[in-house]
Amino acid sequence: MLEPVRITSALLDPVLLDLPWTTPLEEWPAEQLVALPRGISRHTVRFVRLEGSVYAVKETVEKVAEREYNLLRALERLDAPSVEAVAIVADRSDDAGEPLAPALVTRHLQFSLPYRALFSQTLRPDTMNRLLDALAALLVRLHLQGFFWGDCSLSNTLFRRDAGAFAAYLVDAETGAMHPTLSRGQREEDLELARVNIFGEALDLEAAGLLHPSIDPEVVSDEVIKRYESLWHEITYEQTIERDARHHVEGRIRRLNELGFDVAELAMSVVDRGQRYLVRPKVVDAGHHSRRLLRLTGLDAEENQARRLLNDLDAYRAESNLTDEMIAAHRWLSEVFEPVVRAVPPHLRRKLEAPELFLQVLDHRWLLSEKAGRDVGLAPAVHSYLTEVLAKRPDEQAVLGVDLTPETAEIDA
Ligand SMILES: Nc1ncnc2c1ncn2[C@@H]1O[C@H](COP(=O)(O)OP(=O)(O)OP(=O)(O)O)[C@@H](O)[C@H]1O
Ligand SMILES: [Mg+2]
Repeated sequence: MLEPVRITSALLDPVLLDLPWTTPLEEWPAEQLVALPRGISRHTVRFVRLEGSVYAVKETVEKVAEREYNLLRALERLDAPSVEAVAIVADRSDDAGEPLAPALVTRHLQFSLPYRALFSQTLRPDTMNRLLDALAALLVRLHLQGFFWGDCSLSNTLFRRDAGAFAAYLVDAETGAMHPTLSRGQREEDLELARVNIFGEALDLEAAGLLHPSIDPEVVSDEVIKRYESLWHEITYEQTIERDARHHVEGRIRRLNELGFDVAELAMSVVDRGQRYLVRPKVVDAGHHSRRLLRLTGLDAEENQARRLLNDLDAYRAESNLTDEMIAAHRWLSEVFEPVVRAVPPHLRRKLEAPELFLQVLDHRWLLSEKAGRDVGLAPAVHSYLTEVLAKRPDEQAVLGVDLTPETAEIDA
């Protein structure tokens, strides 16, 4: 039976109507739910699986749901790293006719880890640094797009593995606001909110014994701001270049590309009677390598993963004497990348995403080859990786085996 609920959605998936909207989210039956790691939140949040996709459902108030839905949609149009809004379900009531809270439905970000999952074993300081880098880079990207977050924190961020680093995604846009550009004052206000939130979260982690003894909560929060400032400076500073040193402009663009940012245009003005130029790049967005990889191979990977996959692809192209980039990419995909991914038996597929898995195989091949004093080849490396490493790895897409919040009592569906 169709329940009389009101659904707002750009791409309504009718399976959403099958969910028990007349029941409060807290009471949804376990067989509807998927146990996945989840951060701390004020609202009730649950994950459900519908025809192969997993969604996050959050009960909130209608105004807030609308605001968050619209902001997430706007971020998606800008290709910013955030979770994807699917629908708002309003006008809910239970079987006795009592009103129930509206729900915001988002697509579950696959392979994502809330920070409490990452901190569930005592985190090494260098891993912590990579998390802070990812968070700072996320804030820079959002600010470049004119997005004021208003509640940047570790619990409002999700992390995905990215070739030894992390990529951060915004999960909670409730307090955000979209502007054409942000003023320095707005950015500073947002940074101050982030600093206070992260300091509090680091104190909580410390109190729970989850912070490495060498890590100071105050340093953690200050570090995010420092990393943000240095990245922001690198991509926006105005540079003076001597007339005969125009190659420095090229150098600047290359460095920005290395950091993952694309440059849309350069604002150049001539100063000192034509002796020098003032150069300010208009940086459009991060994702330089991911976009190149997507264009060449159709693979969707995080920035660092993409950088390394492109290195492998470039090496393959050189070894096979192929000049055409598109042809080389096509051959690399079907002869190198896909066979490795296909070699993974189905029951191990949920452990890691394909790009991350492929890169781990490359690392494993390198280790084995170093040990053997010769190249062991791809096929034996795959075999050894699957049995020696992957089979022993915890399952990331499913349950992490840790209780993240007291109410995480659902059973894996
Ligand atoms: N689409 C999603 N994919 C993966 N995890 C999600 C998703 N949506 C929510 N979560 C998880 O649920 C948690 C709570 O979500 P969210 O921060 O939106 O709730 P909240 O109650 O608004 O939080 P706050 O207390 O900050 O207001 C997140 O930290 C995240 O771990
Ligand atoms: Mg939140």
